[in-house]
Amino acid sequence: MNIILLGPPGVGKGTVASKLKEKLSFPHISTGDMLRENTANKTELGVEAKNFMDKGILVPDEVVIDMMKERLQRDDCKKGFILDGFPRTINQADQIGEVVKIDKVVNLQLDDDNIVKRLSRRRLCKKCGAGYHLDYIKPKKENKCDKCDTELYQREDDKPEAIKKRLEVYREQTVPLINYYKEKGFLVGVDGSGTPSEVLELAFKAVSY
Ligand code: AP5
Repeated sequence: MNIILLGPPGVGKGTVASKLKEKLSFPHISTGDMLRENTANKTELGVEAKNFMDKGILVPDEVVIDMMKERLQRDDCKKGFILDGFPRTINQADQIGEVVKIDKVVNLQLDDDNIVKRLSRRRLCKKCGAGYHLDYIKPKKENKCDKCDTELYQREDDKPEAIKKRLEVYREQTVPLINYYKEKGFLVGVDGSGTPSEVLELAFKAVSY
């Protein structure tokens, strides 16, 4: 089964996907994580992408689409995959629809106030990328990853100006995908406001029926 997790920045796509992949045994493919890995490794793609990501705007379609087409051809995607953060424009959806069949689009929903609360207090592990929240999903030791004891950091685009911009970009460029997938009959709405395990349960039900 090929699944897309759609929703505003910070709604919890990555958190849900990281657990859903354990339940379904499909790879979790996050464009944001792939781009950040390229940025950390200072690849040509990463250097180009960083300028866009730090400002909270989308990386050009051609860069992201080529990267995803290559990723989805790998063997681990044959039985299914969970896409997180892709597609984000109608053009990305059209192009990916030409190379893979989509079965379910889970649209996670949350109001702006809670999105800002989730993003502004998010912290990530510098080494393994594990995600935390300073109020809701606290690390056991202050500012250290539970899994590998490495220091946590705040993403550049989780600062207030970039969050504002990301929400604007989401409304302008990604919201049209809700109707796009609704018309195709793939869309299932899921309330993202509960605890991580509640949201996971709803998302799991949404893809299971
Ligand atoms: P990306 O990394 O994809 O960012 P995003 O979509 O804005 O989503 P986030 O990762 O910020 O949030 P999330 O929904 O995964 O929430 P999370 O689970 O972390 O993209 C970053 C940038 O890369 C883009 O701005 C763009 O520049 C570029 N890019 C990426 N894809 C692209 C594309 N397709 N085309 C062009 N450019 C692209 O949760 C957030 C916080 O809330 C965490 O602290 C978490 O612990 C907490 N939390 C999660 N769930 C809950 C819960 N249920 N209750 C309480 N807290 C929770």
